[in-house]
Amino acid sequence: MKIAFVGKGGSGKTTLSSLFIRYLAARRIPVTAVDADINQHLGVALGLAEEEAAALPALGARLPAIKRYLRGDNPRILSPESMIKTTPPGAGSRLLRLGEGNPVFGDCGREVALEGGTARLLVTGGFAEEDLGVACYHSKTGAVELCLNHLVDGRDEYVVVDMTAGSDSFASGMFTRFDMTFLVAEPTRKGVSVYRQYKEYARDFGIGLRVVGNKVQGAEDVEFLRAEAGEDLLTTFGDSDWVRALERGRPRPWGELGAAAGRALGTLYEAADAAYARRDWERYTQQMVHFHLRNAASWGNERTGVDLAAQVDPAFVLSESAGGAAGAGAEPDRAPSAQPA
Ligand SMILES: Nc1ncnc2c1ncn2[C@@H]1O[C@H](COP(=O)(O)OP(=O)(O)OP(=O)(O)O)[C@@H](O)[C@H]1O
Ligand SMILES: [Mg+2]
Repeated sequence: MKIAFVGKGGSGKTTLSSLFIRYLAARRIPVTAVDADINQHLGVALGLAEEEAAALPALGARLPAIKRYLRGDNPRILSPESMIKTTPPGAGSRLLRLGEGNPVFGDCGREVALEGGTARLLVTGGFAEEDLGVACYHSKTGAVELCLNHLVDGRDEYVVVDMTAGSDSFASGMFTRFDMTFLVAEPTRKGVSVYRQYKEYARDFGIGLRVVGNKVQGAEDVEFLRAEAGEDLLTTFGDSDWVRALERGRPRPWGELGAAAGRALGTLYEAADAAYARRDWERYTQQMVHFHLRNAASWGNERTGVDLAAQVDPAFVLSESAGGAAGAGAEPDRAPSAQPA
């Protein structure tokens, strides 16, 4: 299950994604945490020391190697250099599975012990690093988008992405890559204005979007969010002493999080899990092709000097039963999960 936390700067994306990640880890549900926000704070929110978090291997800096791996022997992709962040997988591409080892998770992932369980942590890295040796047209989050587009995840395994609600995710199509998007909103006009903008983008693409109120102090706050977001308001979190203790560097046991926050996390989990029934791999694949063609026409073809539309494999549909390069290599004539074009 691919879950995004988005929202205005400072709304509590990192805090709520880290609580949700802890909740999953405590229940021994496999979870991969991805820090794709401009401000990289997820590692620290998951209990790493600042130095440990700063030393995490950055996905953004490993983009060339990630491309080489994901490309596999897909003949439609002429070279790893001609892969852009929206290049979709096709026959011969390597797919990522959360429960299987692969060089991407192996080189970039770090296991973090959490609440009796573990989480795998991936980070995009800061701005400066990704500029080194990587063509300028790849945004920082390009590696995450590529990974999501090559990921076949099942119901009881989670990818939780802490990201901004910025224009970059709308242009690239990144915002369509999730089974559920939690929009974190404080009970303020600015908080809900981001929700309105997001909803507008989300509407055309059938995005599962729910609002999670944060730093909510009383009935009036809830009422305000309800009036603005209506049925989209899923649940709310109050001001949390547990979170503040963590911020002070004096973490408290998970069991002391409090009943209300525990219930709210349970509500997030139920909403995320219920989204599985609405998953539609064909639509998912079509959307990634749609955004790839858009990016190809608007800048990609020109930058790479290649007709990027030719990278699209019309017979390919990503799905949990889709094969990777290994399977395709064994049976070269059969596209993984081939469907009539
Ligand atoms: N429910 C809460 N209770 C107490 N403090 C909170 C709560 N939610 C967030 N905070 C605090 O508010 C601040 C901003 O939260 P956070 O860093 O999670 O926001 P963000 O949306 O990720 O911000 P940025 O856009 O900078 O990444 C932090 O100091 C955090 O500890
Ligand atoms: Mg943050």
